[in-house]
Amino acid sequence: MEKIIVEGGNKLKGEVNVSLAKNSVLPIIVASILNPNNIVIENAPMLEDVIVLTDLLKSMNCKIENIGEGNLEINTSSLNEINLNSELIRKMRASFLIMGPMLSRFGRCRISMPGGCNIGSRPIDLHLKGFKLLGAEIETEHGYVEAKAKRLKGNRIYLDFPSVGATENILMAAVLAEGTTIIENAAEEPEIWDLANFLNSMGAKIQGAGVGKITIEGVDSLKGISYKPIYDRVEAGTFMVAAAITNSKITINGANEEHLRPTIEKLKECGVKFEIRGKDIITVDGTKLKSPVDIKTLPYPGFPTDMQPQMMALLSVTKGSSIITETVFENRFMHVAELVRMGANIKIDGRTAIIEGVNSLTGCDVKATDLRAGAAMILSGLVAQGRTEISDIYHIDRGYVNIEEKFRGLGANIYRVDK
Ligand code: EPZ
Repeated sequence: MEKIIVEGGNKLKGEVNVSLAKNSVLPIIVASILNPNNIVIENAPMLEDVIVLTDLLKSMNCKIENIGEGNLEINTSSLNEINLNSELIRKMRASFLIMGPMLSRFGRCRISMPGGCNIGSRPIDLHLKGFKLLGAEIETEHGYVEAKAKRLKGNRIYLDFPSVGATENILMAAVLAEGTTIIENAAEEPEIWDLANFLNSMGAKIQGAGVGKITIEGVDSLKGISYKPIYDRVEAGTFMVAAAITNSKITINGANEEHLRPTIEKLKECGVKFEIRGKDIITVDGTKLKSPVDIKTLPYPGFPTDMQPQMMALLSVTKGSSIITETVFENRFMHVAELVRMGANIKIDGRTAIIEGVNSLTGCDVKATDLRAGAAMILSGLVAQGRTEISDIYHIDRGYVNIEEKFRGLGANIYRVDK
């Protein structure tokens, strides 16, 4: 079983190149189902989740080839599969995003329910509400969802919660629907803007993506393009916290200031300094004394839930009391038990964690309980006394490309072992 080993104590220096955003590339690959023409997605991060998704589309008779450096050449003209491979679907929740484009292009799709994961039940009720309002008949039985519609018709859809996945699924379904669709209380994450920008580059007519109300005028067809998605704001944010927790100064290439605003502002409150060096280049100075802060995770532009575990690692060694409230997912505190094993002083009360900063953590064997919790284990290992051995690192590989090489390039003593 592979593990990541971190020997704590090293300062970080130099610069790191962040990959393109996993949470953009996944929906963008799925959106290629809408378009039978040739598409190139540039520099896709070859993460486990991206590989699973490309395998899934290949199993549906799509042509996808990595022609070098993550440039994915996609052609879905021969796509014929309507009953999707549940094994691959279950492996990765984001594959449920296939339903929207399949409904829009073929009028039918049968897909296994995505199921929950470690951080929450991950329901799909808002996705299905949107499809029904667009005129689809939905049946859910034996663990499958089947959706059918002669042709989807535009409608007004209000989302009870600004769900990222539901916004993306409904947005893609509306692209080829007849007439106008309006999604209200839509998610505003930068990845939503990126997906809409990709679709508009192919000839879709979408306005308002990135703000709470999105209007989509249905079109009959789309043209082939080559597209480069945005940088990964969560990976960049993870390296910002790495600078803060090790009291180091580093430069991050691929850090978009606007997309990282919530993370930057919270780290500034904590005592971290930032210098915008150029387009998507930010120098992070974490050398000053840190102060405790309170965090409440919220949909964008609130503080991102995907940065919550990483911040908890930092606050575990920040003198004073900090409070983190997780409002987005119902079970996203599994990293707390692992941090406590390392000597952190954290108490959970429902969706709130109270953190009393300690002078130091001690390295030990810990688990990556989910993707971002795994990142938090690396961050705490960087400053723990002695060796931290992280297992279940397949979670980390789902969201970070070559994570230990990137940290080693900054001077961390971190490596992967296979035992
Ligand atoms: C996306 O998940 C991201 N994944 C997650 O990133 C991210 O944490 C999340 O958005 C929130 O920002 C991808 O983009 C692949 P949601 P998604 O639908 O779309 C409730 C990572 O670490 N909800 O916004 O599944 C749900 O229960 C991953 O990169 C409903 O109630 O998130 C949850 O409490 C983790 N009904 C909340 O919305 C629905 O139909 C947020 O879910 C859908 C969601």
